[in-house]
Amino acid sequence: MCGIVGIINSKDLKLKAINVLNKLEYRGYDSAGVSFLAKNKIKTITEVGKIAELSKSLSSDSYSSFESVIGHTRWATHGIVSKNNAHPFSNQKISLVCNGIIENYNELKLKYLKSHKKIIESDTETIFLVLNELSKEIPDNKKLIKKLVSIIKGHYAFLIYFSNTQEVFSLKSGSPLSVGKSSNGIYFSSDSSALNEYVDNIYHLKDGDIIRVLGQDTSFLNSKNVNFEPLKKTSNEFSKGDFKHFMIKEIHEQPLVIKNTQKYYDVDYFLDFRNKLKDVSKELDSFVFVGCGTAYHACLIAKYYFEKYTDIDASCEYASELRYKKISSKKRSIYVFISQSGETMDTLMALKYVKSKGYNTIVVTNSLESTMVREANITLPTYAMKEIGVASTKAFTCQLLALANLSIEVGLVRKNINKKEYLQLKKDLRNIPAKLIKILKNSSYIEKVVNLLSSSKACYFIARNIVFPIALEGSLKLKEISYMHSEGFAGGEMKHGPIALIDKDVLSICLNPKNELYEKSVSNCEEILARGGKVIVFSSKSLGSKKNLLEILMPKENYIDTPFIYTLPLQLISYYFALNEGTDIDQPRNLAKSVTVE
Ligand code: M6R
Repeated sequence: MCGIVGIINSKDLKLKAINVLNKLEYRGYDSAGVSFLAKNKIKTITEVGKIAELSKSLSSDSYSSFESVIGHTRWATHGIVSKNNAHPFSNQKISLVCNGIIENYNELKLKYLKSHKKIIESDTETIFLVLNELSKEIPDNKKLIKKLVSIIKGHYAFLIYFSNTQEVFSLKSGSPLSVGKSSNGIYFSSDSSALNEYVDNIYHLKDGDIIRVLGQDTSFLNSKNVNFEPLKKTSNEFSKGDFKHFMIKEIHEQPLVIKNTQKYYDVDYFLDFRNKLKDVSKELDSFVFVGCGTAYHACLIAKYYFEKYTDIDASCEYASELRYKKISSKKRSIYVFISQSGETMDTLMALKYVKSKGYNTIVVTNSLESTMVREANITLPTYAMKEIGVASTKAFTCQLLALANLSIEVGLVRKNINKKEYLQLKKDLRNIPAKLIKILKNSSYIEKVVNLLSSSKACYFIARNIVFPIALEGSLKLKEISYMHSEGFAGGEMKHGPIALIDKDVLSICLNPKNELYEKSVSNCEEILARGGKVIVFSSKSLGSKKNLLEILMPKENYIDTPFIYTLPLQLISYYFALNEGTDIDQPRNLAKSVTVE
């Protein structure tokens, strides 16, 4: 996590740095800071909280006597949220910012900083002090940087400035960093899309890269031929439009982005992909789906789709577990990694691990410029457009769409479904946007739900079969943006323990699509009502009116579109409840959009 920016040899430094940092704020918002840089001069300003706080603290000075700036927005890993732990760490000689974790910082502290009296809380501050110590013996900055790289262990991206020579070094190992050039300077950013306005060409640093910038010159200390590519630009990504929050804007964008993504799959992507699949999927034993958080819930849905439309085994793994698990290299499996950002550390490390065992890998991602795209054998893109709200909404439903399409393509190739069934399923997928528009229009129940949530001490989401992962997702959405205690349960599990939680102050939200398990799901509702619990049921078939029951009717579903239909209202109720609670919806406490540390 954390976002770093560097603008070297340019003008309007304050404006540009704040602009880029605002776009990187989704990566962490515990504190922020900038160092303005010139020959023998460094001016550092840090603030606890968001970029807006930092912006206020920057004086009316335009900082025009400086040539460059480096900046940082932090998601705290080591050391509390404080001004002291905010980046950049600087003195009049060196200033540095880091995104990542230095795993051996305690070891380095003992070796190089024994005489230091100050309590050092953070890994980055340790590196800053170590670098200062080493600089006493190694006056050549290039050699100094190489020495630093040889002693640190971890995942990181650094920007380091030396005021004596005005050199800037960028180092990368594990954490993302891109560099762009223009006639107005050299720009670094953790996310290349934050540089859209400033550069046309970009280079995504590779692990082990060290770039030295001096004036307008960039030299690569470890590689010679580096290709800058055109930066793919999209407009309006960072604007809320008429909406109050990115999250609600992104919820409302779902019909459009699903339509666009499906169109791309229909007329382009899968025509070619089917050929690729023919080679791999006929010989396979299993598909393994891997992700974290919301993306893991998409993995669970993929398993239901694969079980329904193919004869191939499907399983799911949390990336954070898989990366430390023993996996056999004998099974004929394909691993599918799901990640909105394409940068989540656990997912990326699991991908690299699986690749090292010789498996084929697919990444389903919304970020075509991401590290996972560069690592995986095959990319299955989603076109959700940039998702800014920390709570994933449209990226999730686009992941479901990608996985639904993948499952029916595999089913067709393996002859588990026939062409007629396949075409009908495709049609059902194309009809999803219309159903979602209907749900968005009919939101009169929201106020009642918000009132019920407000008067409850906890909320449980209960569902079976393909909507069970949606119960987990609904619960994650609610807890992450409103901080209300919530869990998701499989309906059949209630009697095995969770029903003990039910009392009059607890709200249960049941998802009951009209499928073969409908009656069983109805029994779950009845059992909760019989114990004095309050129930909201989302269903396409009415249960009739009952005391303590609020029924919300959903459009008729098919198996393939069920997860989409039941996701949308849960996103809406979480949003409106959080709005009522007054929480910071787009940037909930303790979270960040991309979890790029372990
Ligand atoms: O970028 P990714 O899809 O890899 O992110 C995975 C999770 O961190 C993410 O889905 C997280 O759970 C969201 N905040 C949930 O809304």
